[in-house]
Amino acid sequence: MLLQLKNVTKRFGEFTVLDNLSCSVEKGEIFGIAGPNGAGKTTLFNVITGVYQAKGTILFEEHPILKLKPHRICHLGIARTFQMPLLFESMDVQTNVRVGAHFGHRGTREEEKNIQETLEFVGLKDKAACSAGSLKILDKKLTMLAAALATGPGLLLLDEPVGGLSPIEAAEFVKLAKRINTELGITIIVIEHMMRVLIEISNRLMILDNGRKISFGPPKDVVQDPKVIEVYLGV
Ligand SMILES: Nc1ncnc2c1ncn2[C@@H]1O[C@H](COP(=O)(O)OP(=O)(O)OP(=O)(O)O)[C@@H](O)[C@H]1O
Ligand SMILES: [Mg+2]
Repeated sequence: MLLQLKNVTKRFGEFTVLDNLSCSVEKGEIFGIAGPNGAGKTTLFNVITGVYQAKGTILFEEHPILKLKPHRICHLGIARTFQMPLLFESMDVQTNVRVGAHFGHRGTREEEKNIQETLEFVGLKDKAACSAGSLKILDKKLTMLAAALATGPGLLLLDEPVGGLSPIEAAEFVKLAKRINTELGITIIVIEHMMRVLIEISNRLMILDNGRKISFGPPKDVVQDPKVIEVYLGV
């Protein structure tokens, strides 16, 4: 197991957002997460990456990470993207990626090579000098993805990566996610509302509702689960 969550509970005051959640992610897989708005999906990413403190246990490669600061968790090999593109908008694309590279490795000699290779991998080489704020949404998402990849992760968390993209752009992004998984050997956890995308790319799919796991397994089985149809997909 690459990542193991045991009885993870996150409360905001009286409000329980993650309710005794346990699950595990295998090395090399693409693990999908879906569920209604407010189910706790993004909160789960915030807990895994150390943005929020929570109760329970999270092991990454057998290493307990729940009490660690975000930069320590990044150094261990977990990177993420955000639901809304979060960039240094006044900086150019390659400087945004450089921030990721610095955050992950604290400045190695290999850094510049890593940045250029990452830009090339996601298809942003020609836009390296463009200001991030001037980019269209797909390129903003690719820049955020490149910054995450430049940290050198073993596990990449993608929060609604195709939200706001056209169907053609979404298909391009899905292809890239598959290449990240197969060519770079990076395990991926992806939150997504578009079930078509999740069925296509996930090895296993978990559905959250009110902070609880209500269904889990191969995507084709999960989408036929009556509980999932009732609370999320509808008939
Ligand atoms: N910092 C916070 N303080 C208080 N409540 C919060 C905080 N962050 C999230 N919440 C609440 O926790 C619940 C889960 O939010 P979360 O963003 O994890 O949902 P989500 O499953 O990602 O939803 P969506 O599909 O809309 O992105 C929501 O009710 C939200 O309002
Ligand atoms: Mg969310």
